[in-house]
Amino acid sequence: MPAYLQCFDPACAQRYPLGASDHVCERCGSLLEVRYEGRHEDDPAPPQKLRAAWLQRRSSNRIEDQSGVWRFRELLPFVSDTAQIVSLSEGHTPLLEVPKAAAYAGGVHLTVKHQGNNPTGSFKDLGMTACVTAARIFGNRVIACASTGNTSASMAAYGARAGMKAVVFVPAGKISSAKLAQALEFGATVIEISANFDEALRLLRSIRAELGLYVVNSINPFRFEGQKTIACEILEQRDWKVPDHIVVPGGNLGNVSAIAKGLFELKAWGFIDRLPRLVVTQAEGANPFYRLWKQKQQEIVSIANPSTEASAIRIGDPVNWKKAQQALLHTEGLCESVSDDEIFAAKEALAQDGVGCEPASAATVAGIKKLAASRQIEAGADVVAILTGHQLKDPESSLRRREEKDLARQRIRVDADLKKLRWALENVLHVEPQLSLK
Ligand code: F0G
Repeated sequence: MPAYLQCFDPACAQRYPLGASDHVCERCGSLLEVRYEGRHEDDPAPPQKLRAAWLQRRSSNRIEDQSGVWRFRELLPFVSDTAQIVSLSEGHTPLLEVPKAAAYAGGVHLTVKHQGNNPTGSFKDLGMTACVTAARIFGNRVIACASTGNTSASMAAYGARAGMKAVVFVPAGKISSAKLAQALEFGATVIEISANFDEALRLLRSIRAELGLYVVNSINPFRFEGQKTIACEILEQRDWKVPDHIVVPGGNLGNVSAIAKGLFELKAWGFIDRLPRLVVTQAEGANPFYRLWKQKQQEIVSIANPSTEASAIRIGDPVNWKKAQQALLHTEGLCESVSDDEIFAAKEALAQDGVGCEPASAATVAGIKKLAASRQIEAGADVVAILTGHQLKDPESSLRRREEKDLARQRIRVDADLKKLRWALENVLHVEPQLSLK
């Protein structure tokens, strides 16, 4: 197999076998990444040929061709036999124009890549198909993660499919009930810890070796291999025209790092000739990376008690900050921080285009609006926002956040009586011309 693991820090670059059970460099403590031996030189398929093959697979009914990850499998050559793949037909998510949200965000040309349309409703499925496939290839039996909810739902589903035991560590009472219900339904054991996400992940990492757990958090380099393919999908959906910016909400900072890896590889292998600028948006109460970036700090200063209603990105000590820093440095990237009010206002703006998402995802549009206002993103720029999770992931927050006046207008209780019903409807139709029966 032409692949191996390598320490991410170029000054160390220590190599490890693909099946190494720990994903931290023994020499310097940095995280590892998957590298491919002589990928460039002995690649028999030039970009033109591969692009055509990838397109052709879309008309195939085989699961490895349908999957928006494995359709690009030449870029993930750690699997020697497609029968090893654990897939739920992830990926192939829509790229949508959102003109009203674009106007709201300050007149950029905005499209959204909706990762909520994945099997378990978030972008995690792209990473999980690759990671659980690797876990199976290397003979692991028990997979585990710490999670703010989406990773646990995704791991539980792919674990069930692979016939593996799945153990989830979540902050007790701090994840949405929809995500908790998913993990439980897929049969995972859910350990609710009276601590936040960062502490839960620290505990999991300390107990991993002793219990033989295969950790699938974004310290696992195979997650990046799956998640990097979103770069291929976006570019293919745009006929390989590179956007000016790709905007991602940042929590543990795995996703932005994975997208960067995909873009770097596509550029090195001749698929694109320039890189988009990567943009990370964080919630104000959980923004250690924003502070690092803005204040040009050398090391991240973690936030002990991160807080935001966007529970998916309530993370104060992101493990992938070095990879994310490199991603932004190499793409002339940007970083923004947004309040919860700004996040929910952006979510409302997207809803006017008929596009729902979970709060963390709307941090992208909120960030674009601020960056456009400060002219860091120019008017008319071609911007792709990654909506990371489905609207139904967190219905409690949308109900909580609806203004009372909107609720009074929209949510009307009526007795089962025709006269009262007519009266209530006439009132509504009268004040809302777009609902006129004419
Ligand atoms: N958006 C959503 C919906 C998420 O669930 C997450 C992370 C992020 C954005 C941030 O992505 O960590 O790669 O920077 N959720 C993790 C979880 C932490 O456990 O589900 P990141």
